[in-house]
Amino acid sequence: MNRLTPEQLRSHRWFGREAMRTFNHRSRMAQLGFAREDYAGKPVIGVLNTWSDINPCHSHFKERVEEVKRGVWLAGGFPLELPAMSIAEPFVKPSPLLYRNLLAMEVEELLRSHPVDGAVLMGGCDKTTPGLIMGATSMGLPFAFMPAGPMLRGSFNGKTLGSGSDMFKHWAEVRAGTLSMEEWEGVLSGIARSPGHCMTMGTASTMTSAAEALGLTLPGAASIPAPDSRHAQMAVATGRRIVEMVWDDLRPPQILTADAFDNAVTAVLALGGSTNALVHLIAMARRAGVMLDLARFDAIARDTPLIANLRPAGQYLMEDFFYAGGLPAMLARLNGKLVLDALTINGKTLGENIAGAQVFDDDVILPLNRPLVAEGSLAVLRGNLAPDGAVIKPAAAEARLRKHTGPAVVFEHYAELQDRIDDPDLDVTPDSVLVLKNAGPLGGPGMPEWGQLPIPKKLLQQGVRDMLRISDCRMSGTSFGACVLHVSPEAFVGGPLALVHTGDLIEMDVSQRKLHLHVSDEELARRRASWQAPKPRYQRGFGALYAAHVLQAHEGCDFDVLVRPGDTPEPDIY
Ligand code: FES
Repeated sequence: MNRLTPEQLRSHRWFGREAMRTFNHRSRMAQLGFAREDYAGKPVIGVLNTWSDINPCHSHFKERVEEVKRGVWLAGGFPLELPAMSIAEPFVKPSPLLYRNLLAMEVEELLRSHPVDGAVLMGGCDKTTPGLIMGATSMGLPFAFMPAGPMLRGSFNGKTLGSGSDMFKHWAEVRAGTLSMEEWEGVLSGIARSPGHCMTMGTASTMTSAAEALGLTLPGAASIPAPDSRHAQMAVATGRRIVEMVWDDLRPPQILTADAFDNAVTAVLALGGSTNALVHLIAMARRAGVMLDLARFDAIARDTPLIANLRPAGQYLMEDFFYAGGLPAMLARLNGKLVLDALTINGKTLGENIAGAQVFDDDVILPLNRPLVAEGSLAVLRGNLAPDGAVIKPAAAEARLRKHTGPAVVFEHYAELQDRIDDPDLDVTPDSVLVLKNAGPLGGPGMPEWGQLPIPKKLLQQGVRDMLRISDCRMSGTSFGACVLHVSPEAFVGGPLALVHTGDLIEMDVSQRKLHLHVSDEELARRRASWQAPKPRYQRGFGALYAAHVLQAHEGCDFDVLVRPGDTPEPDIY
């Protein structure tokens, strides 16, 4: 491997030349207290920190960023902390996905406009992982991803609690009248008890694990609980490693290949990961020039067993997964299904990184002959209701609903659903199919995680806990149920979902990958002729920019201008 010389460093253009403007750069570095020999001729590492006061998943990043910087110093580099937007999943409205592309743009331009040679990306809370990686991939400098790590297990009254899943489960019991408000408050106080991201196999754990399977983290990094001292050790090691990556000029195209994305999809499916991974991995892949699509997910799903016994599909949490050997051990168990010669950021192949990794608890990481789901843990459905696809996690649905036909009960938007779902006069039975429209990329906007539509109260009180539900939005990775998601194209742009009426029969058959609206083509044409497009949600600002450029769910919801081929010039430095 050819090593760069100091003169070949990108930062040399800012710091290495003698000119009036470079005087300005160096005088301002002196103003910060640095001598020329502290930074000139060394890899300058942008440490992109998504810490904020309101992001509990990243509350340890103030310490971790110092550990990353220590690693950079120790390896002979020069660290520069560059704050980036935090996108705290629980607080950012109307939907954090609305801002994933804004983070990606911020990351790309932060790296482009500053004198940096490489980057460490610090993220983990749901949208931060794809946003950081999409932006850094487009910029194309060497980068390493440092995952936030999951929080510790939740705990209350002797019960283990999992992020999200136990909120949904216990809220259903509150609505059914079987859980007191006092117990509800107790669950609330014990469900998130340390720094770190959600510790179920939700979107955060799914995407940080996907980043590791892609080769973008140090081996084992994604499974370490945030408060564990090994997390701090990993932060220092990541800082050390990025300096070497810059000297080796190890850039994203060498790592982010079609094989690497197949490995990530395989890992996500074996983990029982979040359906959000479809949207994010498709967007990440297309930034790397890899045309990943829904059909590839479905094909890999048919041949991948779900072997991580983690909630919401299984029993355990990320802390247990780490003690059982973590992601390297699970990948080692899957090695016949992975492309082992895919290169990773430590300069070794995935196969070399997982060689010898052991499983220490067969109940958490199941043997291949005793999987939680043998194949098809995720399915891509198509039909006249979803010409460009829709997704479901069949394993999260009651078995009776995996092949089901029932009459639609339609809600035109989420506010209407909230108003009517518990109405005692709502004409609904356990066989009904709940349909939510106008909750997609433009309609939501940002595909909010409303896809686990609530079961009507009167059915909950009869003991019903699952129904077939269909929408164009997403579902939290911690959710469960017979929920068909990401229907594409969405209702807001006139997709067939917009044409469904209450009482229409809808058929879903997972084994046939079928989603069919039993309404004649002639009647659908009549309905389409009288359909009126909703008014745009935004007149100005980022919302208007988003609406003008966002792609549909099956294309990853990126902006058309960000996936467009072509080069962006390096800034001129006079
Ligand atoms: Fe941050 Fe779940 S709220 S990962």
